[in-house]
Amino acid sequence: MSVTQVEVGVGRLAALLHELPAAGVFVVADERAAAAHPAIGAAVDARTSFVVPSGEEHKTWATAEALLLALDAAGIDRDGLVLGVGGGVTTDLAGFAASLHRRGVGWIAAPTTVVGAVDAALGGKTAVNLGGGKNTVGTFHEPLRVVADPSTLTTLDPRHVRAGLAEVLKTALIAGGEAWDSVLALDLAFDLDDAWTDATVADFGAIIERCLATKLDLVTRDLHDVGPRRTLNLGHTFGHAFEALALPELLHGEAVALGLICAARAANNVSLETTIRERLKAWQLPLSPPPPARDVDALLTEMLRDKKRAGGQHTLIVPHAPGDVRVEEGVKETRIRKALAAVLEG
Ligand code: GLY
Repeated sequence: MSVTQVEVGVGRLAALLHELPAAGVFVVADERAAAAHPAIGAAVDARTSFVVPSGEEHKTWATAEALLLALDAAGIDRDGLVLGVGGGVTTDLAGFAASLHRRGVGWIAAPTTVVGAVDAALGGKTAVNLGGGKNTVGTFHEPLRVVADPSTLTTLDPRHVRAGLAEVLKTALIAGGEAWDSVLALDLAFDLDDAWTDATVADFGAIIERCLATKLDLVTRDLHDVGPRRTLNLGHTFGHAFEALALPELLHGEAVALGLICAARAANNVSLETTIRERLKAWQLPLSPPPPARDVDALLTEMLRDKKRAGGQHTLIVPHAPGDVRVEEGVKETRIRKALAAVLEG
C-alpha cells in the first residue's frame, strides 16, 4: 500500500509552502525553479535549504553528501521534513538524502517539470548516479505527499515540456483505455512556443492526474519493482542507450520517445508504431537519433550495460497494444536489432 497522498492543481504549491511550518522543514530546491518562481525562491530564503544546480550531471554522490551535511548542520531530526522542489534530479536527491538522514525522515515531492510530475516524483525511487551509470545507488523511500502544480510548468523551455510528453505517452500506453484515448485526443495544434493559456495549464493538470493515477496503482501493487511496476520502463531500455551515446544532444524524454518507437517495432504492432510516430511528430519529438547514437553495435553494448539486464540477457518491455504491455525476458539480439532499425532506417 502506497503511503503517498497525491495532490494536483493550480495553486497547490503556494498552498503547501504557506501551510508548512518554518521550523523543522528543510527545502531542497532546483536552482532554475527557485529563480523562475518567486514563491520557491522565498521558501528557500525563509527556511534552512539547499539549492541543487540544474542538470543531470549534478545528481552525484558529492551533491548528496553536501546535502546530507546541510541537513545535519540545520539540526533536522527524526521528526523533521524534507521538501524537494524541482525536476527529477532534485526530487531524486531530496528523497535519497531524506532516506539516509537519521535513518530516514519524511519528505514531500513538489515536481516542477513534466517528467517529474508525471513520473519521477511518485513511487519512492530515489538515487544518485555513480560510476558512470544512471541511478546506480539509491533507495526506495516513498514521499508522504506528491504536490504537483501545473502552473510551475509554464516557465519551462518548450523543448523540455515536449520531452516530458514522451513519458506521458508511455504511461497512457501502459494504462490503455480512456487514458490512451485522451492522450490521442490532445489538440495536435497545441503549440508550446506560444504563451501558456489557462486552458493549456488545465490540460496539463488533467494529464498529470491521469499519469499519477496509473503510476500510483502500479506502485501500490509493486513498490519494489519486481512485478507490474517494471512496465514503467517501457521505452527506457532502448532510451537509455540512445541517451548514453548522444548526451548532451538528447534529453531523457527525447530518448524515451525513440525507445517507444523501437518497443512498438519489437511488438511487431505496425498500427501502434504508426500512431506513436504520428503523436511524437505532432509534439515535435525526434523520430530518429542524432549521429553519435546511430551505431547499432554501440547501442546493443549500452543496452546490455543497462542495469535491468538479467544474466547478460535482454529484458524488454513490449507494448502489444494499449493496456497490454508485457515484461519479456531472454529477448534475442536479432529482435533487438530489428527493433532498433525502426529509428535507424531511412
Ligand atoms: N520511473 C519508473 C519507476 O518509477 O518505476
